Amino acid sequence: MELFKVNGHKNLCGEVSLHGAKNSALPVLCACLLVKGESIIHNCPNLSDVRATLKILENLGCTVARQGNTVTVNAAQVSGFAIDEAMMRTMRSSILFLGALLSRTGNANIYLPGGCDIGTRPVDLHLKAIKNLGVSVEENGSCISCTTGGIKGAKIILPFASVGATENIMIAAAVSKGKTIIINAAREPEICDLAEFLNKCGAKIYGAGEGTIEIEGVKVLKPCEHRIIPDRILASTYMSACAATGGEIVINDIKATHLSPVFPVFNEMGCRLYLNGASLKVIAPKRLRRVKTIKTMPYPAFPTDSQPMVTAALCVAKGTSVIKENIFENRFGYVSELNRFGADVEVNDTLAVINGVKKLKGANVFAGDLRGGAALIVAALAAEGTSTIRSIYHIDRGYASIEQELEKLGADIKRINDEEAKEKELKSS
Ligand code: UD1
Repeated sequence: MELFKVNGHKNLCGEVSLHGAKNSALPVLCACLLVKGESIIHNCPNLSDVRATLKILENLGCTVARQGNTVTVNAAQVSGFAIDEAMMRTMRSSILFLGALLSRTGNANIYLPGGCDIGTRPVDLHLKAIKNLGVSVEENGSCISCTTGGIKGAKIILPFASVGATENIMIAAAVSKGKTIIINAAREPEICDLAEFLNKCGAKIYGAGEGTIEIEGVKVLKPCEHRIIPDRILASTYMSACAATGGEIVINDIKATHLSPVFPVFNEMGCRLYLNGASLKVIAPKRLRRVKTIKTMPYPAFPTDSQPMVTAALCVAKGTSVIKENIFENRFGYVSELNRFGADVEVNDTLAVINGVKKLKGANVFAGDLRGGAALIVAALAAEGTSTIRSIYHIDRGYASIEQELEKLGADIKRINDEEAKEKELKSS
């Protein structure tokens, strides 16, 4: 087991670049299953969730290869339609294989997916939509068996603009008979990226990024090359780390429009933001200002995935800030660890009240989920003294070598082996 050791209280300063978006790479890789040939995916981040997705593709008979940040998936031969429970549980996005397998093979034997423990995260919207598309679904405990004689277009009204359900429908309906209309579709940039990939392959998907998406089913998809969009949540992580440490950094390879929901929050905190094409300069004040209320909502509002890192930064702001989490009912699990740094955050159900403190002190903490783990890094970077963050496999799911990137900004953060750390602790005691 590995951990991060952080000597904090250093202003971050320097330049970093974003890697490709995890939440875009995962659906695009699942969608490669529809293409009877070699898909070439550029800017595909080397994350543990991506590696798990590639493993599933291999187990289904695909050939996969990585060279730098380019991944090729050859799905000319697909030999199976079952994914075992352990693999399904590695991440939430494994549920997207449901649409992909049904479209490609007419069958899918899968299990309920896993992923971060931030709420109940049911898959009812996915299953209901798939049934609407002419699939028979049998649920037996955590096992889901589906079969279809062919996906048939349908009108699907989503009661909530679920990102995953929208993606599953798009993947399932891209190759189908007839037209599918998704009402109240999710509008996240990752939805647009998936549509762009599928359309390059010959799909006919219209309206991605808007509330209604129309998909005219086609007979077959052809191979293409695609570049994954930059990771907007990684950008907000760097912005939070810069804000919390009073730093001055440049983030390259950004897509400014994707970040427009978070810019006003950083402005309100007193950060100065300068855009220059795909580069963003962030200059944080000596002491952050509080923000009134942040409400997480589907895109184009403030993203739930940025909430934990921004909360961590606000811990050292002057005054009291309030965050209302509207997407996941259990997304403040990391707060008890945050308070170990001397932060003063009170959580009441889906509301967090952050009473800013002058300084944080180093602490020994455990990451409980991906973005909660990133929030602990932000706090450790701001805190005086040394911190350790354990269970960092959660963080590796969505950040590629985050410690090396933060070192480029002058952070003192090392990945070390837990056993080594214990030995050192014993020797020094
Ligand atoms: C995706 C992202 C995740 C992000 C989230 C919201 C990926 C791999 N993950 O997750 O990082 O935090 O969007 O932006 O892209 N829901 C149901 N039934 C369903 C599906 C969802 O009740 O069948 C609920 C969820 O429990 C949650 C809300 O809808 O409360 C939003 O979930 P959804 O948009 O589906 O998120 P994910 O696709 O799981």
